[in-house]
Amino acid sequence: MKKAILSTIILLGSSSLFADTTMCFKENHQSMSTIENTALDGGLCNGKFTVNDMKAKGWNVDDIKISQSPNGMNFIYILKTATTEVSSNFTGNQAQMEANILAKLEKKKVAEEKAKVEKELKDATILAQELYTTKCQTCHGTNGEKRAYNTSRPLKDLSLEDMQESIKNYKVGNVNSMNANIMTPYANFLDHNEIKGIHAYLKSINNK
Ligand code: HEC
Repeated sequence: MKKAILSTIILLGSSSLFADTTMCFKENHQSMSTIENTALDGGLCNGKFTVNDMKAKGWNVDDIKISQSPNGMNFIYILKTATTEVSSNFTGNQAQMEANILAKLEKKKVAEEKAKVEKELKDATILAQELYTTKCQTCHGTNGEKRAYNTSRPLKDLSLEDMQESIKNYKVGNVNSMNANIMTPYANFLDHNEIKGIHAYLKSINNK
């Protein structure tokens, strides 16, 4: 868990978020004996300060991770200010830091999900346009404004739920109207997603 969190910090480059915790690193460094006098990248070290500089500025090394890299070793330093230590607020800050990262990741996930749903809907709308114009519009009108055979409601006024419900009723033979047999064959080949697409398509052309 801790390792995953650390790599997350690197990804987000978020050390500036936390006043009293910063993360610095050095990739592909050759020697343990020189690392403390080598300027570190990232965080408040920012390519300028070494671990020793940071200590002089009042930072303490809280954690060091060392791993092998193709060209040497990777060093990751977690530095905290002295105030963090004396206030014994250590766990709280750590938890806060993790909570912030998780919140950020969650936000990213939600945004990705949303983009995915929007894309799916857009793709479905394009397919639905084809479907609607070739299979439905003669009876229901170019914009879904017609009452087919003077019996149906204009499709453009139906909510998605109404539309799904109506189509389902035709499929199961649950509509006792004179013209139901006209619509039933069309309802039979429509699936849930196609109805969703047609609804989105009609909505998109009527909101122009
Ligand atoms: C040949 C004409 C015709 C075609 C083509 C047709 N429909 Fe219909 N549709 C009707 C009629 C007539 C009704 C009303 C039937 C009744 O009285 O129950 C109807 C009803 C509906 C309803 C229910 C409306 C309501 O008031 O609840 C929906 C939804 C619907 N059609 C969608 C479609 C879709 C989507 C397509 C294309 C895949 C399509 N229809 C193709 C004639 C047609």
